[in-house]
Amino acid sequence: MKQLNIVILAAGKGERMLSKKPKVMHEIMGKPMIGYAVERAKEMTPLSITVVTGFGRERVEDFLKRYNVNLSVQTEQKGTAHAVLAAGRFIHGGDILVLYGDVPLMELSTLNNFISFYEKTGGITFMTTRVDNPSGYGRVLMDGNMIIDIVEDADATPEEKAIQEINTGICIIPEQHFSLLREIKNDNKKGEYYLTDICKTAKSKGLIVKGCHYDNASEVLGVNGRKELLEANITMKDRVFDAHLKNGVTLLDRNIYIESTVIIGKDTVIFPNAYIMGNTVIGEDVVVGPDTIIRDSTIHDTVRIEGFSVIEGGDIKEGAVIGPFSRIRPKTVLEKDVRIGNFVEIKNSVLAAGTKANHLSYIGDAEVGRNVNVGAGTITCNYDGKKKHKTIIEDHVFIGSNSALVAPVTIGKDAVIGAGATITRHVPEGALAVTRAQQRHVEGYGKRKKQQ
Ligand code: UD1
Ligand code: CA
Repeated sequence: MKQLNIVILAAGKGERMLSKKPKVMHEIMGKPMIGYAVERAKEMTPLSITVVTGFGRERVEDFLKRYNVNLSVQTEQKGTAHAVLAAGRFIHGGDILVLYGDVPLMELSTLNNFISFYEKTGGITFMTTRVDNPSGYGRVLMDGNMIIDIVEDADATPEEKAIQEINTGICIIPEQHFSLLREIKNDNKKGEYYLTDICKTAKSKGLIVKGCHYDNASEVLGVNGRKELLEANITMKDRVFDAHLKNGVTLLDRNIYIESTVIIGKDTVIFPNAYIMGNTVIGEDVVVGPDTIIRDSTIHDTVRIEGFSVIEGGDIKEGAVIGPFSRIRPKTVLEKDVRIGNFVEIKNSVLAAGTKANHLSYIGDAEVGRNVNVGAGTITCNYDGKKKHKTIIEDHVFIGSNSALVAPVTIGKDAVIGAGATITRHVPEGALAVTRAQQRHVEGYGKRKKQQ
């Protein structure tokens, strides 16, 4: 296959989104849509990839850092032809494949077939498709597989508006015709330099422009407004589902939300209404219970997450059991076989293997050793109103119910904390710490009260 330079247009504001955010940064199943176009481009291992940025470029460029692509700025958005020219300085020989940052659903095989078509026929080539409602798109006037002209929606006559064959925007410009872009005029309704007007320029030079029809329109359509964004999310959701099902993951309902950034191992079972988001990696034989939310977390093999739990920024090791109704917050590491039960919140803490916190606790900024028992109602008082402090609980400690551990504090190995304690000082290894007042009895009090 011929080596290409890929130019991805992403400088537009996307007026029709009615958004403060640049259009290409709107997410589809958790990933900004520009990410999909760039990933497809990367898969093709071309000579170069250049993304043209403009509106909201800081945001777009910041996201694109992870991809290592050329960035070219189009300071003023004067149209798609003007945008392709902005990428010129990164093109040193080779033909040019133009992709649009707002066309996120296209598949690699579709692009490869398009390139094969181009290789057979040569010349400037656009990918076209047919839609029931062509409104908003460039209408393609064709004669066989030759393009006579592409008329933009704003400039189309009523007869032209009725044409259902539309331009997908995806096109190849042979190296020797790149200079034609400079001859394109902006004498149209929008006063923009339309890439599609390369058809007119080519014609004036006696060159033939080809159209490569692709049948599956929904895959190659642009996202211009919120409705299309919704449709793209739904399509992408199905694709994400299919990929996991093929990999041996069990999904128990259609109503599961898995962003396209998530990796899941085989024999993992996901219950209905689970939301799995961001940079999450889930291992094999994991159970993700109903109505759980998992974001930016690593869940190792055989972990069980019971229903209604929320895990964000956690690293959960093999055999751990979480929930129901647990909350794991960022920078939490739960080592092997840790058990976290209902209404337990853990933040920025490491709990070593075999430790249990089964009910009603807050553990924040703590280092908890192995096989510690955290009784119901244990609170690490980590915040003094200004600063956060650390709690260290060593191996095999037993913390009785309803204890407040006022940080900074260390509980030595094998220590026991009596129920209802408020611990403000270091507890030595193996000691029992009791801080409660002595229990006393007022004899006959209850009886007298009843008689009053
Ligand atoms: C464009 C095509 C239209 C086609 C449709 C398919 C042109 C003139 N029109 O229209 O024929 O049917 O796509 O989806 O090409 N952009 C820039 N700089 C600019 C203008 C746009 O980088 O100055 C980028 C946008 O960010 C976007 C892409 O180019 O990613 C397409 O621009 P958009 O304004 O969405 O064009 P459409 O009106 O959809
Ligand atoms: Ca568009």
